[in-house]
Amino acid sequence: MRLVDLIRKKRDGKELSTEEINFVVRGYTAGELPDYQISAWLMAVLLKGMTRAETATLTHAMLHSGETLEWSDFPQKKVDKHSTGGVGDKTSLILAPIVAAGGLLVPMISGRGLGHTGGTLDKLEAIPGFNVSLSAAQMREVLKKCGACMIGQTDSIVPADKKMYALRDVTGTVESPALICASIMSKKLAEGIDALVLDVKIGSGAFMKQEPDAVHLAELMVETGERMGKKMAALITDMDQPLGQAVGNALEVIECIEVLRGGGPRDLLDLSLELSAWMFYLGGRTKSVDEGRQLATQLIRNGKALENFRQMVGLQGGDVRAIDDISLLPTARYRLGVVSRNAGQVAGIDSEKIGIASLLLGGGRSTKEDVINPAVGIMIHKKVGDKVSTGEPLCTLCYDSSAQLEESRGLAESAYQVSPAALLQKRPLIHRVIQSNKNENSATQP
Ligand code: URA
Repeated sequence: MRLVDLIRKKRDGKELSTEEINFVVRGYTAGELPDYQISAWLMAVLLKGMTRAETATLTHAMLHSGETLEWSDFPQKKVDKHSTGGVGDKTSLILAPIVAAGGLLVPMISGRGLGHTGGTLDKLEAIPGFNVSLSAAQMREVLKKCGACMIGQTDSIVPADKKMYALRDVTGTVESPALICASIMSKKLAEGIDALVLDVKIGSGAFMKQEPDAVHLAELMVETGERMGKKMAALITDMDQPLGQAVGNALEVIECIEVLRGGGPRDLLDLSLELSAWMFYLGGRTKSVDEGRQLATQLIRNGKALENFRQMVGLQGGDVRAIDDISLLPTARYRLGVVSRNAGQVAGIDSEKIGIASLLLGGGRSTKEDVINPAVGIMIHKKVGDKVSTGEPLCTLCYDSSAQLEESRGLAESAYQVSPAALLQKRPLIHRVIQSNKNENSATQP
């Protein structure tokens, strides 16, 4: 088989066979196929698309390009959640302990933040001592004791994606639904899970800005997971304003602790309960999503979810004292309020701008190599629909260095749209839920 023939075949819009897709993935992972040919192949896929069957085959090939985790000695069902990422999106830290406290296994592999979006690993590492680099054997020990473990990607899990994603990043080939689906799903399925809930975000702070694109990706991922025998659901959720009030790693950990204590912002609590409910339902722990929501609520009320979080933090080397005494978490030295220049109602908050404003304070990364400051970030005081008077704080910048403070302040201020009169149609937090999608023969779609 020659890669040039497969590039031509895809360029001409034809469907690739399982053997051909396997040839590409195996050959590239083994270092036998050059970057320049794979780049051309990726571009052909981006432009001509893949059928659903091709996408599932690509996902399968990537999943088996390295080690997969296996938990058959655990009696519980294994479940996880994946979010396409957003600003202030911290639900993993809340739902993993809820779902583990409810009796399911959550072997979660997460990523780091890049650009305006945050990453679960960075948030966890804001807890002094928390270790996200556990071996599979160490992960097993943590899971045995508390049912949830949160670690980072290793070199041996889905090596094909590591190479291909890096190449896509520099060849303009990230924005292909088939490639995104294969990349995300191969990594999640390598966790050895039975069920997966997807949180596909839409809005100003999301990877997908428009609902039809998000729905297409969600349907593709749900179908791909189901073809591999997994229980799947996708929630299309709102990212047209930051989730909760905290943006920045330690600030977000504090907010998660508040929710696990029974408080915290309403939107964050609601989304965490909804995602947990779907995890309980798909994992067979409850008969319905409603029952799952009740169980999740109860596990917060009776303190079991917080206790599970405490256990997981301790088992992963984190300082559990920081859960009760948040002064032990990194804290920024200075605060600067961003005030409203006029009176009215908050009509919109551009989440991407808030994410970048936090990045400029040192809370995020422009490149993978950047070192982040876990203490800094932004506290949102006014959300969409809130009334505001002239001079009232919209948000507060928490910072250690004034190097890019003015730029950050300007961006945060411009993120807010304050209208004199309320013309609002408030967006729902959950736009829709996508479950089984039986379009077996749908056409190729770029
Ligand atoms: N996130 C991933 O892990 N892969 C993609 O291709 C896009 C987003």
